[in-house]
Amino acid sequence: MDAKTPSESRTTLTDLVLPSETNPLNNLFGGELLARMDRAASIAARRHSRRIVVTASVNHVAFNKAIPLGSVVTVEAAVSRAFNSSMEIFIDVWVEDRESGRRSKANEAIYTFVAVDETGVPVQIPPLTPESELEKDRFDAALRRKQLSLVLAGKMKPADATELKALFKD
Ligand SMILES: CC(C)(COP(=O)(O)OP(=O)(O)OC[C@H]1O[C@@H](n2cnc3c(N)ncnc32)[C@H](O)[C@@H]1OP(=O)(O)O)[C@@H](O)C(=O)NCCC(=O)NCCS
Repeated sequence: MDAKTPSESRTTLTDLVLPSETNPLNNLFGGELLARMDRAASIAARRHSRRIVVTASVNHVAFNKAIPLGSVVTVEAAVSRAFNSSMEIFIDVWVEDRESGRRSKANEAIYTFVAVDETGVPVQIPPLTPESELEKDRFDAALRRKQLSLVLAGKMKPADATELKALFKD
């Protein structure tokens, strides 16, 4: 299988925050943002693998900044590393200033998707070749995040998580 770049899966969803999507403080409801991120990540995973994809894990979410009612929110997702059947998807969330149009980073998240066949059995996907410095950094750190996720899910023994353990040496 030919390798693909993160740009080939990059997916951008831009939408408004409507009143029905807010909490009592009039900020975007966390679950609504999770759904938008899952949708963008799912399209990115499909673009990389060209297969049916399912969410295997939400590895990390940071709600760093509240997003007020009426904001224009952009969710940008791209595959950051491909393994055998699973892909790590990195998601950046941006909010656009109404007057200047300048975008500022509000949140980020990391999801894992798995490509499956019509019966739900995991299938092989193309490898990923990172290009920019940021893509290379995300690629390099993805293996230890995968190991952490598998350990937390009870699917890997901590003793086998070699990349993860290396973080805590010295
Ligand atoms: C995701 C799913 C296909 C994995 O099936 P499985 O029987 O665990 O399959 P495997 O053990 O062969 O794992 C497949 C891949 O997923 C990875 N994986 C599984 N669970 C994972 C987790 N919690 N975190 C990170 N990676 C995970 C495995 O490491 C493996 O990766 P690789 O092939 O790239 O090495 C299966 O659990 C599933 O269908 N889950 C439901 C998905 C779904 O419905 N999502 C929507 C939620 S409502």
